[in-house]
Amino acid sequence: MSAVRKIVVLGAGNVGGTLAQRLAEADFAQELVLIDIVDGLPQGKALDIQESAPILEFSTKVTGSTSLEALRGADIVVETAGLARKPGMSRSDLLGKNVDILRGHAQAVGQEAPNAVVIVVTNPVDVMAEWFRRASGLAHAQVFGESGTLDTARFRWFVAAELGVSPRDVIGFVLGTHGDTMVPVLSLTSVNGVPLTQLIPAERLQKIVERTQKGGGEIVELLKMGSAFYAPSASQAEMVRAVVNDEHRVIPVTAAVTGQYGFRDMYLGVPARIGRTGVEAVYEVQLSDGERAALQRSAEAVRQDIALLPSA
Ligand code: 2OP
Repeated sequence: MSAVRKIVVLGAGNVGGTLAQRLAEADFAQELVLIDIVDGLPQGKALDIQESAPILEFSTKVTGSTSLEALRGADIVVETAGLARKPGMSRSDLLGKNVDILRGHAQAVGQEAPNAVVIVVTNPVDVMAEWFRRASGLAHAQVFGESGTLDTARFRWFVAAELGVSPRDVIGFVLGTHGDTMVPVLSLTSVNGVPLTQLIPAERLQKIVERTQKGGGEIVELLKMGSAFYAPSASQAEMVRAVVNDEHRVIPVTAAVTGQYGFRDMYLGVPARIGRTGVEAVYEVQLSDGERAALQRSAEAVRQDIALLPSA
């Protein structure tokens, strides 16, 4: 029996479609609904995924819809809708358009699924998570976003590739905004306990930090017509799993801060404990002076974008 009754994925583009596939194959919910404004797209992707059920042996019922009424009674909603970056754009360049797209979605979630846990993916994600919460009227704990989960995966992979070790053994966190000022926390990164700073020389580490900060942009430049979706959907599925199974996972997400690290009234990438009700706790970890200053710059970038939000 699936752990939750209904999951809704808003947006049936590359991210939403790939995420829906991952969620169906994991059999997380009795019902999975893919919603998009483009008629045929969510229905077609949903049917295509559903037809793989006999081979992959999942029992989730997968449907597609263009109506936000299909949000009714959702336990978990993942917001993937909105414009993606093109080469040369920053995530902040998407803010105005994506505010308009998410307003209606957030209001519909507030009406149709007020008890849902919402995972926001749309960029600029730290700002969009705050916007979604405001426009939906949901509690802070119910709304969080992707960011550190994806950035940390990229960081761990770059470290693993540099050292020729299994990526599973690289432990670390990326904090701050999901943008160029994100902060890979070197002081807390290790290969199963062996400090990273003992394994990789400082100038190589700096290159890894910079590649992580530009990780999303590297894929945008390569694809030329859209942004990443395989690693993003994997990180989103990890967050959904933590909610579905009430795992109390400690993972870096963008969550509402209430004074941690000196910040409040905003969303920021922080280590948080995630369970069935959403964000259960935000952890404050010891940072070096340099990391603290970098986090300050990162938070400032988010604050500047939050100031551009209209009233909900
Ligand atoms: C990324 O970093 C799309 O923001 C997403 O790839």
